Amino acid sequence: MTDFDEIITRDTPEDIKYGKIAGIDDLIPMWVADMDFRCPEEVREALSSLSQRGIFGYSEADSSYDLALTGWFKRRYDYDVDPKTVLKLPGVVLGISLVIRSLTSTGDHILILEPLYGPIARAVKGNGRNLVISDLSRKGTHYDIDFDDMERKITENNVKMFILCNPHNPAGRVWTRDELTRIGDICVKNDVIIVSDEIHADFVYGSNRHIPIASLSDEINKITVTCTSPTKTFNLAGIQAANIIIADDGMRHEVDKMSLTTGAFGLNIMGIAATKAAYTYGEGWLEDLLRYLEGNIELVKDRLKDTKLKVMDIEGTYLMWIDASSLGVKDPAKYLLDKTHIRFSEGSFFGKSGEDFIRMNIACRRSLVNEALGRLTKLLFLE
Ligand SMILES: Cc1ncc(COP(=O)(O)O)c(C=O)c1O
Repeated sequence: MTDFDEIITRDTPEDIKYGKIAGIDDLIPMWVADMDFRCPEEVREALSSLSQRGIFGYSEADSSYDLALTGWFKRRYDYDVDPKTVLKLPGVVLGISLVIRSLTSTGDHILILEPLYGPIARAVKGNGRNLVISDLSRKGTHYDIDFDDMERKITENNVKMFILCNPHNPAGRVWTRDELTRIGDICVKNDVIIVSDEIHADFVYGSNRHIPIASLSDEINKITVTCTSPTKTFNLAGIQAANIIIADDGMRHEVDKMSLTTGAFGLNIMGIAATKAAYTYGEGWLEDLLRYLEGNIELVKDRLKDTKLKVMDIEGTYLMWIDASSLGVKDPAKYLLDKTHIRFSEGSFFGKSGEDFIRMNIACRRSLVNEALGRLTKLLFLE
């Protein structure tokens, strides 16, 4: 069993998460969404045998890759994926951007639910499309979709595309079958393409289950682009790999054409080897990891209850969304970095409704989570 408690230093100059901040030599980085854990041993072996061979020529995933990929989705989500519907790309955000460019026109309206992982809104706006926001509705520590608002905004703005995030980063929701069915019905009825970013699909806790929205019905499958990747699950972000599933031949053809036009297509040789090994051998490692992350989550919830930091419910992802408005400061992440030397993601990165929040990445060894909680509670109880 993997020792997730192991202390692993990430102090290379290229490392973004652990990047140095002037004047701070005891930084605890709990921001960008990668983990401090080593990937599964079989993935390391696959990469190391490739590098020993020393041949890094142009490469293409073959049928053994397809088998590993489709097997994963079938076993984990009972989701049948036809390998011919999968576009391989060096990243989910890139995939979303290509999909926006190829399936909508300049000036079209695209809907998202905020707060939401910032690069999605950036991809919409940067590609010259109009961003339409429906804010998630908050009840205490729980977020819901305001379906009336969503549908009204779709019809009023003649929205062409809806970008869903499931599980939702940063709201921590794993959308239920009922919620996904309502989303699907609204989009089918209003001729809206669904782009479902499911990069966090494998991080789901308790009785929650990840349901790929495309798996709900043929009708929904036909209008959906599903963005998946092994990079969050197996901590391979630097390898840059994504699998974008588009069942509809016409839509897939358009995205593929855009991908070839821009030269942004295919996986690199490391991405192919890592993905294949991860999806073939990584299930046991993932199950152990999920139990470990649940332990970290419980610890944070327990130690921060009755403090000024209000932890939102977390059904999925390893990113805890925390309301810091009671601190009464303009930029809570900056304030806490100054006071505790813990680096959180700034809530404003996730849109206007996130401004009073911080996002805490708990995918690191428990001793570091404990150290961070010690610093936080000391500050909060002193105030
Ligand atoms: C919801 C979501 N989508 C996409 C990404 C990034 O994916 P990629 O590195 O494949 O572009 C992240 C990374 O944190 C994310 O949280």
